[in-house]
Amino acid sequence: MLTGKRVRLRALEPADSEAMWRWYHDPEVGRWMDGAPPISLAQNLEKGQNRPRNTFEQMLLGIETLDDPTLIGYVVLGDTDFRHGEATLETIAIGDRDHRGGGYATDALRVICRYAFEEMGLHRLTLWVVADNAAAVRAYTKVGFVEEGRRREAFRTKGKRHDFLMMGLLSSELK
Ligand SMILES: CC(C)(COP(=O)(O)OP(=O)(O)OC[C@H]1O[C@@H](n2cnc3c(N)ncnc32)[C@H](O)[C@@H]1OP(=O)(O)O)[C@@H](O)C(=O)NCCC(=O)NCCS
Repeated sequence: MLTGKRVRLRALEPADSEAMWRWYHDPEVGRWMDGAPPISLAQNLEKGQNRPRNTFEQMLLGIETLDDPTLIGYVVLGDTDFRHGEATLETIAIGDRDHRGGGYATDALRVICRYAFEEMGLHRLTLWVVADNAAAVRAYTKVGFVEEGRRREAFRTKGKRHDFLMMGLLSSELK
């Protein structure tokens, strides 16, 4: 388990599937993500039973607070390229709305980034985020990510187009 000041990151258990399924269908969670068609709870429970084990190349970690072992969100690190020392921070979500805005995402980001740099020996992390996803951009910026590129009007939601930012973080820049 990876521990920060406020959160712990751990592998998902089958018992987490119901919460993951609820968040999957929560428009607030999915607003700035690529949508996917609805799936049934039974399908998600089956997925939870057969989840591939985490590897350095691709890991999905649950986020829980230090004082309560209940899942509040998840973070995904993937596409690891050890030759160049780079991976992609694919997403982070605080699915439980009562815990949003409480600093848990920022702490979880610090924990996963520190793990990537110190334990996996990576040199840099990359991520993509919709420019108007203010909470995410703010959380990424707080831990040291900087804008490295912009795909203009590349994300469409509810009939509107938004820019997509590429952000990067070097191991020496983690705050
Ligand atoms: C992005 C997300 C994980 C951030 O979680 P969070 O709980 O708000 O994060 P934190 O509490 O650590 O806050 C991070 C910063 O963002 C700010 N923030 C939070 N909500 C905000 C909003 N709607 N607008 C602007 N800033 C916001 C916080 O105030 C904080 O900055 P501060 O410390 O300077 O005050 C959460 O909003 C979420 O789950 N969103 C849906 C999923 C998603 O879009 N993930 C990103 C995909 S790339």
